[in-house]
Amino acid sequence: MENPLADNKFVEIELEESTKEKEIYPLRTRRPALGCFVYFRGFLFGRKCQSTARLTGKTVIITGGNAGIGKETALDLASRGAKVIIACRDVQKGYEAVNDICEKVQKPDMVVKRLDLASFASIKNFAQDILENEPHIHILINNAGIAACPQSFTEEGYEMQFGVNHLGHFLLTHLLLDRIKASVPARIINVSSIAHI
Ligand SMILES: NC(=O)c1ccc[n+]([C@@H]2O[C@H](COP(=O)([O-])OP(=O)(O)OC[C@H]3O[C@@H](n4cnc5c(N)ncnc54)[C@H](OP(=O)(O)O)[C@@H]3O)[C@@H](O)[C@H]2O)c1
Repeated sequence: MENPLADNKFVEIELEESTKEKEIYPLRTRRPALGCFVYFRGFLFGRKCQSTARLTGKTVIITGGNAGIGKETALDLASRGAKVIIACRDVQKGYEAVNDICEKVQKPDMVVKRLDLASFASIKNFAQDILENEPHIHILINNAGIAACPQSFTEEGYEMQFGVNHLGHFLLTHLLLDRIKASVPARIINVSSIAHI
């Protein structure tokens, strides 16, 4: 006949083992560790937008859309069917970006317009052009930015980073605000960095 105590002993050993494990890695230390891992993985390698939303019929303006994050954003928005207006200080670079995007998106609806955020005159010209030609602005992405550049000044004499990153985008937003409000649902997105402070 089987000894029932032998079974109980086995159970006791199991409990001891699992208790030991809990002592070494208590839950309250494992959870933050997991959270930190997920956060830093997202911080270092980026997270991918899972949205499949379409933007057909929407008009988007993106400053600095010819390079870096702005160009990638323009590519994504164009692939969702939006009309994307690339606002850049060098239109040649803007056309090159559109050419690259054309290789990945079939017949994107894209426009390149000149905008130098270091010049109030350029910002006003750009805004006037947009107000005359675009009945709607659904999304304004204030993305262009500079950091740690050599000391220099905007046309109006403001320090370059302050002038481009903050004053230029503020004026642009102000000039387009009524059209954005009239296009609701609409939104303004400011891309920033701790380096802008
Ligand atoms: N990359 C990062 O790790 C990071 C991290 C946090 C935040 N950000 C922010 O994300 C935004 C985009 O960064 P990024 O890395 O894509 O930078 P990037 O590759 O250097 O692109 C910056 C864009 O801004 C444009 N720009 C600069 N001065 C301008 C001016 N006076 N008028 C109009 N456009 C101007 C540039 O035009 P040109 O091509 O003619 O120079 C370029 O298209 C910036 O606001 C940046 O601070 C970036």
